[in-house]
Amino acid sequence: MEVLRIEGLSKVFGSGRLEVRALEEINLSVSAGDLVALLGPSGSGKTTLLLCTSLILDPTAGKIVFDSQTIFQKNGWSGGVDIRRLRREKMGFIFQSHNLIPFLNARQNVLFPLSLVGTKGESADNRVMELLEYMEITERADYLPALLSGGEQQRVAIARALANNPRLILADEPTASLDTVRGKKVMELLKKIAKENQSAVIVVTHDVRMIEGFDHVYQLKDGRLNLG
Ligand SMILES: Nc1ncnc2c1ncn2[C@@H]1O[C@H](COP(=O)(O)OP(=O)(O)OP(=O)(O)O)[C@@H](O)[C@H]1O
Ligand SMILES: [Mg+2]
Repeated sequence: MEVLRIEGLSKVFGSGRLEVRALEEINLSVSAGDLVALLGPSGSGKTTLLLCTSLILDPTAGKIVFDSQTIFQKNGWSGGVDIRRLRREKMGFIFQSHNLIPFLNARQNVLFPLSLVGTKGESADNRVMELLEYMEITERADYLPALLSGGEQQRVAIARALANNPRLILADEPTASLDTVRGKKVMELLKKIAKENQSAVIVVTHDVRMIEGFDHVYQLKDGRLNLG
């Protein structure tokens, strides 16, 4: 089942002499359970593609269909989509720097996206514990992010991204701050999540050692996607 379809997606920053064509007519389809790697050199448009996919950045042209709904169509009707709500309920984000909320402990960080969609009380607490167990980080549940190692922080960030069982997970260099062993472990977890939850998972990386076992590997170069 197709979760995401991107057609002719372009993104231009600035104009005139300062114009940067960051994405050029990208086409991409991702299905439930797919683990997709997005490779490419620095400046090739990887982060821009994730940000445009989630409409955190406004694309310049093209069309995006997410979960059977047209969420973006330039010069067309895209159905008055509540993108913030879609993001909260159906997308999960994992960034290079984990972006945990510094004054909330691990448990509270994972609870946060649940509270945003109105999940409360015992069912929320149970979900948080289940996620922390899944990430093997239960014994650190009451620690603030600053007291966790880089790998532990990243596992909490992944638990947080999974909290609402998203249809789509977007991960931007999730292993960049980790050593090879821990990086591989995070990739294994993402693979497990794609297969077990049937989430579509797109992972940006520029480390080819990390992409073992991915279903699809795409290369971005100068804003163009090579479906190879
Ligand atoms: N807000 C912006 N304004 C202008 N240009 C931008 C902006 N964001 C990105 N760019 C440009 O768009 C191009 C793609 O940037 P992007 O951040 O997507 O690359 P990337 O592949 O994620 O690189 P890296 O591996 O270094 O993270 C680059 O040329 C960059 O300078
Ligand atoms: Mg980037």
